[in-house]
Amino acid sequence: MSEIWVEKYRPKRVADVVGNKKSVEAFVKWMKQWELGKPPEKKAALLYGPAGVGKTSLVLAYGREHGYDVVEVNASDWRNEARMRWVVGESSLQATLDGSSRKIILVDEVDGIAGKEDAGGIAALRKIIDETRVPLVLVANNPWDPRLAPIRERCLMLEFRRLRKSEVLRRLREIARQEGIRVSDAVLEKIAENSEGDLRSAINDFQAITGGRKVVDEKVLEVLGSRNRVKQIFDALRIIFNAKSIRAARAALEGLEIDLDMVYAWILDNAPAQIPDPSDLADALEALAKADVFLARVNRKQEWRLIKYAVPIMTGGVAVARRHKPAGFVKFSFPSRIRLLQSTGRERELRRNIAQKIASKLHLSTAKALTHMLPYVSFILENDGGMGKGLAEYFELTPAEVNYLAGGKVEKEKVKAAAPARRARRRRRS
Ligand SMILES: Nc1ncnc2c1ncn2[C@@H]1O[C@H](COP(=O)(O)OP(=O)(O)OP(=O)(O)O)[C@@H](O)[C@H]1O
Ligand SMILES: [Mg+2]
Repeated sequence: MSEIWVEKYRPKRVADVVGNKKSVEAFVKWMKQWELGKPPEKKAALLYGPAGVGKTSLVLAYGREHGYDVVEVNASDWRNEARMRWVVGESSLQATLDGSSRKIILVDEVDGIAGKEDAGGIAALRKIIDETRVPLVLVANNPWDPRLAPIRERCLMLEFRRLRKSEVLRRLREIARQEGIRVSDAVLEKIAENSEGDLRSAINDFQAITGGRKVVDEKVLEVLGSRNRVKQIFDALRIIFNAKSIRAARAALEGLEIDLDMVYAWILDNAPAQIPDPSDLADALEALAKADVFLARVNRKQEWRLIKYAVPIMTGGVAVARRHKPAGFVKFSFPSRIRLLQSTGRERELRRNIAQKIASKLHLSTAKALTHMLPYVSFILENDGGMGKGLAEYFELTPAEVNYLAGGKVEKEKVKAAAPARRARRRRRS
């Protein structure tokens, strides 16, 4: 048993895709038009909506059922316009020339190109839509960026909403049945509820809590109840800067899947804007300087126990220092890129390499693999020893990468920087 359930239970047929029936039907109808030999008026379909609700799955299932090659390209992974044109243009043209296999071109993370500075990506994609001879399916989580307007107007817009709790639950029951796992409905319901309509995270949660066992105790409800879903750094910052007590401030970091060094960079860079009074700010910076001394020692000498001191000082110390608030709402900003890269450069590289491998297996962009899958793969490796080997082979991970994910000792010469940050996280979890 070495499979990641989200992939194992990816719908094989369109009928297996749960929820969003209207959009599913509209998509099928649109594909039928292509098959009748007269391309529909809109030559691209834009499937949009939150993560893990079946957008990619629908296209893959349709392709599988009707004998299409689905050529996947991730817009946000593209380095430049030329490459994007080449990938899409080439396969779009080839499909009509060789005639051997039918193709669907699936362009994921289209919203990713709107964020990029150059408008070239959008212009290129627009042109490709106009020229394509094969069905072009675009996917985005949020297609409403004004810069995407020229894309939107060329697309059949198909909305995918969060799945209903009952739909998630039904799928979880089905998986439990197929895996031969005994688990109460109360547990599955809790997982379904936590997932907020994101079936990918529900299935991942389910696999993670079973830990390879065939019977799941109701005790896991406690874990599920208290477990924070990965909180966004912005939430954490808001809590830290507005906390009334040290305890409340340090609680902001619980369940946060972000390296401590990086959290530090965020707090430090946002402090001047969030703390308008100069003497408050001086106190906050003093606290941060102290925390930095501890953190430096954690990283240099690997004295993990010092994290215990660093965390309350960098969170609570800042919270209590802020006696005056800004007049209005001040939004949090990204810390300077350079500092982030400095603090976590090597670990980022390692994580990125792993994410690329996961992405290529699970039909995701690297960015998505990093945020949506890597923490789970890591959790599963850490808690279910039996799966390690199979998973490593499946994702083609190197021993160093497996070590890193499983939270074990990391080979020094290869990934020096990974160890402290990784341990720091593990430490905080326990
Ligand atoms: N509607 C669904 N029906 C059945 N399985 C689903 C559905 N939605 C998600 N899943 C499960 O979750 C996994 C991820 O789904 P999928 O890749 O289709 O999500 P997505 O909507 O494309 O998300 P993203 O926006 O993050 O790319 C699938 O492999 C499948 O196991
Ligand atoms: Mg997808």
